[in-house]
Amino acid sequence: MIPNSVIDSIKQRCDIETVVSSYVSLKRTGNHLKGLCPFHSEKTPSFIVYTDTQSFYCFGCGAGGDVVNFTMRAENLDYVSAIEALAKRAGVALPESGDYNGAERGVSRQRVLQMNLEAAKFYRNMLHDERIGSPGRSYLMSRGLTGAIVSRFGLGYSPPSGKMMLSHLRSLGFKDDEIHTAYFAGKNDRGYYDYFRGRVMFPIIDVSGNVVAFGGRVLDDSKPKYLNTSNTPAFIKGKTLFALNYAKNYCSEYLILCEGYLDVISMHQAGFQQAAATLGTAITPDHARIIKKYTSKVILSYDSDEAGVAAANKAIGILEAAGVDAKVLKMEGAKDPDEFIKKYGAEKFSSLLRDSRSKFDYFLENISAKYNFDADEEKIRALGEVCKHIATVYSNIERDIYIAKTAKMFDVSAKSVANDVELQRRRASREQSRQRKEDLLKVTSGLGDLVNPDYARIPRAAKTEEDILGMLMLHSELSAVEVDGKALSEEDMPTELGKRILAFILAITDGEFSFGAMNESFSEGEISRAVGMMEKRRNLSASKETYSEYVRALRAENAKNNAHSTFSVKEILEMKRNQK
Ligand code: CTP
Ligand code: MN
Repeated sequence: MIPNSVIDSIKQRCDIETVVSSYVSLKRTGNHLKGLCPFHSEKTPSFIVYTDTQSFYCFGCGAGGDVVNFTMRAENLDYVSAIEALAKRAGVALPESGDYNGAERGVSRQRVLQMNLEAAKFYRNMLHDERIGSPGRSYLMSRGLTGAIVSRFGLGYSPPSGKMMLSHLRSLGFKDDEIHTAYFAGKNDRGYYDYFRGRVMFPIIDVSGNVVAFGGRVLDDSKPKYLNTSNTPAFIKGKTLFALNYAKNYCSEYLILCEGYLDVISMHQAGFQQAAATLGTAITPDHARIIKKYTSKVILSYDSDEAGVAAANKAIGILEAAGVDAKVLKMEGAKDPDEFIKKYGAEKFSSLLRDSRSKFDYFLENISAKYNFDADEEKIRALGEVCKHIATVYSNIERDIYIAKTAKMFDVSAKSVANDVELQRRRASREQSRQRKEDLLKVTSGLGDLVNPDYARIPRAAKTEEDILGMLMLHSELSAVEVDGKALSEEDMPTELGKRILAFILAITDGEFSFGAMNESFSEGEISRAVGMMEKRRNLSASKETYSEYVRALRAENAKNNAHSTFSVKEILEMKRNQK
């Protein structure tokens, strides 16, 4: 745990307006600031920053919280990393060896990061060591890398023999089990040994500039080609992209996503600084969401072999789901971008980027590879698949373009393609309306509200509960008010979430309510919900009298609900109708 006093001093120095302003352009309206929400796409601003309570809330998507929550969402960081990022920004020193994270492993994130930084220096020094580093240097040279790019990426070399890294880290005061946790030491029956040996080392640096992990490549054809840091308290593979620390500043138009470290480094050397790579894993939805923060377009530049094509295909779906437009680069005559650039030069690669095919062209190409059009039956099935695909496209114009392309490729009339597409669209819309009805039923019967599943079962009581909690967040002193001889207690709260939030508020003894402190025991969704409760009360009265009235109403509702025990779905639907 980071001490609360440290968190407080960080928050004091990180004014929410200043922090948010580096992501969103805010306009002052009355007492607060307004802008376009960075967490969902919108055309009219519903994202509000409240300087008095140092909080934000989006009335569009419901995201909310304090400056720490904002940083967590905006940079896709966990709580501790968000605090670290803000500390850096504010110039506040965090307790160095404080063991406040990675508790399960007993090694803190901070400690691993320190170790990583030392390790990066060590590997770099080894690479430049006249005698030890020479195999590493000649390997990198043979791959065509310049000294400048080697130092820009902080590349290094792990000595082939023994335990040099182990003893180096020991000499700096790191314990064997820490070194093991951070993936610098393996362990066998004879004890610990260096995990990376005789490899060129690629430090992996996160967007805040921390060295979070390493990849190490052998210098020949031996196996395994790469060794990588596995997950540690400072590193989650599926949430990290290699070179995004640089690429993020060059990718506003589009990001080039590659498969390999060396592809990325070659690209940067050739001037394509918007290139990044996943770390030997397929792209995850987390990766896609992170990418979406920096750009809305990706050009996939994967290997040209079968595995690369399959990976690109999958990636398109994942990126699309996150709202990122994906195109695929068609590369012929080279197995990967690194080889391509070396063989044909940067100019040629530029023209590939310009020609990168739209999703649809790519889709058509895959279809034609999958089916044999000479056989009527296969051609019909292929057409069916294409029409189904076109039917999912929203824009009429876009659909027309695709229909024309399809007609040409299959040598059939555009009219009959269009008819089939229409048929598929009607089918899909029937399916959709059935799905919507089902969803509505789920929500109204309480199965769909994931943040507060109790809400829909007892909407009136739950709404009143939220009003009361909102008042308490704004005016915590109200919690002492006795209503009909009894102050509000957990018993009065009809939902589990309500009980937990009230318990949290009542436990505050040293001053103001703050959302940051909720991070320990509430999920992001729950915190957003809590902020929503507060913001909805902001401009309403919160006198002792109003408060008492609400508490009385809540108690009356509870009594009624307890008598009825619960509502049927039909009753709930009726209530919903009445609410509208
Ligand atoms: N990778 C890995 N472990 C392996 C092989 C590959 O982690 N045994 C990951 C690495 O991140 C690598 C990426 O997958 O960068 C792509 O693999 P590959 O194309 O084989 O490697 P390159 O980086 O292109 O290396 P090279 O050009 O030297 O073959
Ligand atoms: Mn390669």
